[in-house]
Amino acid sequence: MNKIIPTPRDKHPDPELRGDRISGERYYSKEFMQKEWDHMWTKVWQIAGIASEIPEPDDFFVYKIGLEEILVVRQKDKSIKAFYNVCPHRGNILVHVENGSLDTFKCTYHGWEYDTEGILRNLQDPEDFDDGNPCGKIKLKEIHCEVALGFVWVTLAEKPQKFQEALNPLISHMSPYQPEKYIRVLNLTCEVDCNWKIIHDNFNESYHLPTLHPELSVHIENDYKFSQFDMYDNGHNRMLMPGHKPALGDQSPNEVNFPLDAALEAWDLNPEDFKGKAQETRLAIQEQKRKLAKDRGFWHYEFLTDEQLTDYYFYNCFPNYDITMTPDGIQFQRPQPHPTDPEKCLFEHWWLVPDMEQLSASATFMGSDTTENTAGENMTETPLGPRPLRPAEHEWVIYPEGSMGYVTDQDISMAIGQQKGVKSKGFEDAILTNQERRVRRYHEVLNDYIEGRR
Ligand code: FES
Ligand SMILES: [Fe+2]
Repeated sequence: MNKIIPTPRDKHPDPELRGDRISGERYYSKEFMQKEWDHMWTKVWQIAGIASEIPEPDDFFVYKIGLEEILVVRQKDKSIKAFYNVCPHRGNILVHVENGSLDTFKCTYHGWEYDTEGILRNLQDPEDFDDGNPCGKIKLKEIHCEVALGFVWVTLAEKPQKFQEALNPLISHMSPYQPEKYIRVLNLTCEVDCNWKIIHDNFNESYHLPTLHPELSVHIENDYKFSQFDMYDNGHNRMLMPGHKPALGDQSPNEVNFPLDAALEAWDLNPEDFKGKAQETRLAIQEQKRKLAKDRGFWHYEFLTDEQLTDYYFYNCFPNYDITMTPDGIQFQRPQPHPTDPEKCLFEHWWLVPDMEQLSASATFMGSDTTENTAGENMTETPLGPRPLRPAEHEWVIYPEGSMGYVTDQDISMAIGQQKGVKSKGFEDAILTNQERRVRRYHEVLNDYIEGRR
């Protein structure tokens, strides 16, 4: 194995911001939506799915972005190829399920059959063509596809941005966590009544934490003065936020409350010992994890820095995926554009955990235990409570009857109100604090695409 270099923590110099306006129409205008498609969505690299969920030759899944569908297929040689999910004969959608395993994709219209390399292999009346039997000559239209960090990435661009450059610095920063060995145990999608950028903007700032998620200050330092913000040249941003201690601005910053007490207990530390000294819990947990992790089978800690054993490394990636690296799980949140309506989006929420049975003691969600479910399966904690430790089925959530997770629901509730507000004549331009500058930066990078500078 290549040597794993720990995630750098150096502050990246802030790029100069132009101060582009963030006015309302970009959140509701159909013209703006079309510009995004023409100049941005059809150029960028996107995460199509999880590579380990199509482990065997012939395994496939379908990824949808805008009005397009992409068929992602594991090949006989174990590589992965991606094609437009369209039959070249007369344009029927080829595969109508989300995933499966097939060595032949047969179009339901006239029965043309394609192999996993996308090559036409069989059809009815092959003699009935002026140029002879088209088998072996006609192919599904293939698109560029890469695998990194355990994700399958695709781009609709015919001449794509160089993959490594486009993803920089995500691969080097996330590799130490070894996400390719993680399992997606939660896979939710919810249609939300707001433009996709409203949700991504929300993840690009932590200014809303004390007001919208006040309960987090019991175990997360939410004051911007103690966070680090980085904005990288290709549009990805990150925020480093200390965890496993109360925020100094919390109403009892020196006391241990739930769920911090459970996190201490999970690592054989006595919450009583930190009475009046709760600011010391973060370093104590780091130290204790270093001592006990190996014996408990926490193979992934060896490659993380001490800070990563307690802290949250949020990556707000361009154009729309937000990945939070926590000590024991990776949270993936992504608002996908609605295919036709700029005032709706398809919000995805995944939770991935290391493939290990003993995760319970880590209190992944600070205070939750992994237990066996009634079917005798190993369970793991997620933002929606315990789930089996195996690849999750895709679930559609209807908000607000269903939940996307307590904290995520709080974000959604604001997004719906904000969508209404940005359409009002009362809103002209966002007035941002300094700590929200990643939001401005995000829109400036988007404008760069739309106006042809990228
Ligand atoms: S459209 Fe697929 S076989 Fe005719
Ligand atoms: Fe939030």
